[in-house]
Amino acid sequence: MWVEKYRPKKLADVVDQKEIIGSIEALLKNAGEMPHLLFSGSAGVGKTTTALCIARQVLGPHIQDNLLELNASDERGIGMVRDKVKRFSNFAAFEEIPFKIIILDEADEMTADAQTALRRTIEDASKICRFIIVANNISKIIDPIQSRCAVYKFTSIPEKEAMAQLKKIAKGEKASIDEEGLKEVYEQSEGDLRHAINILQAAASSGAVTAESVRTSAGQARKGDVDGILKRALAGDLSGARERMVELIKVYGMSESDFLKYVSAAVFRSGAGDPGAILRIIAEYDYRILSGANPEIQLSAMLAELGSLGK
Ligand SMILES: Nc1ncnc2c1ncn2[C@@H]1O[C@H](COP(=O)(O)OP(=O)(O)O)[C@@H](O)[C@H]1O
Ligand SMILES: [Mg+2]
Repeated sequence: MWVEKYRPKKLADVVDQKEIIGSIEALLKNAGEMPHLLFSGSAGVGKTTTALCIARQVLGPHIQDNLLELNASDERGIGMVRDKVKRFSNFAAFEEIPFKIIILDEADEMTADAQTALRRTIEDASKICRFIIVANNISKIIDPIQSRCAVYKFTSIPEKEAMAQLKKIAKGEKASIDEEGLKEVYEQSEGDLRHAINILQAAASSGAVTAESVRTSAGQARKGDVDGILKRALAGDLSGARERMVELIKVYGMSESDFLKYVSAAVFRSGAGDPGAILRIIAEYDYRILSGANPEIQLSAMLAELGSLGK
C-alpha cells in the first residue's frame, strides 16, 4: 500500500500543516514539558502520522515498549481502554525517555460518559504517560478533556501541496502521470491525502494516470466496495457490512444518499433472488433519512433488514 510506504517518518516530512509542525517542534525542544495533545481535523490529513512522528522523536530506540496505540472506536469500549492504559502505565519508563506515550485514535467515537471515565484514566496515568488524543470532530470531545490538552486543528491539504506529494510518490513508483490526471485525483479526494494516494495507486495499477483512468478507477473502487457491503448484508454478516459502510461514509466521505444510490445500482449485479424486495427496503430507508432520521442508525437498520431478507 502506497499510503503506508509513503507515510512520513519525521515531522519535517509531514506535508502542509506548517504552523502545527512548527509549534510541535518548538514544544519538543523541551520534550519533558510536553503537555497532552489533542489533534482534530478531517480524515487523511496527517493526524495519526504526526502523532507517530512525535513518538518516534521522543522515544527513539525505546519506542517499542513505550508507545501504546489504542483505537477508541474499538467495540470493547472504555473498559478495554482503561485496562490497557492501567497495565501500560503501571511501570515507569526508563530514565532515558521523559514519559511513555499513548495515542488514542478516534476518541470522538466515545460517548460522553466514556470520555468522563477516560478523563480520570488520563489523570491517573499522567505521571508516567502523555496522551495524544486524535478526533475527527473536536466538538464531540468533552470540555474537561479539551481543557487538559494543547489543541491542534489540522486542515485539509491544499491542492498545491497534495499534488507535489502525489508527484513524488508517482516518481518513486515510476508511474506514468499527467497533470490533468493528478488534478482529477485531487478533486476526487477533496483534500484527503490518504484517499488521494489510494486513488493514485488504483489508477496507476490500470496503466497511465489520466483524468479518464482516474474517474474510471475511482468509480469502480466505489462500486466494488458497495457490492461487497451488499453481499455481506444479504449473507447476514451485519457487523462486517456495517463496518465497511461506516468506513465509506466517514473515511471516504461518501454521502448517505450516494451510498443508497450505489447500493440500488448494485442490486442487479448481486444476482440476489428478489431484487424488488431489496429495492423496496432501500427506498423505505431513503425516505426515512430524507425525513431527518439519523442516517447512520437508519443505514445500519437497513443492512440488518437486508440480512433477514437474505435468510
Ligand atoms: N500531512 C500529510 N503529509 C504526508 N502524508 C500524509 C499527510 N496526511 C495524510 N498523509 C498520507 O495519508 C496516510 C494517512 O494519514 P494519517 O496521518 O493516518 O491521516 P489521519 O489524519 O486520518 O490520521 C498516511 O500514511 C500518508 O501516506
Ligand atoms: Mg488517523
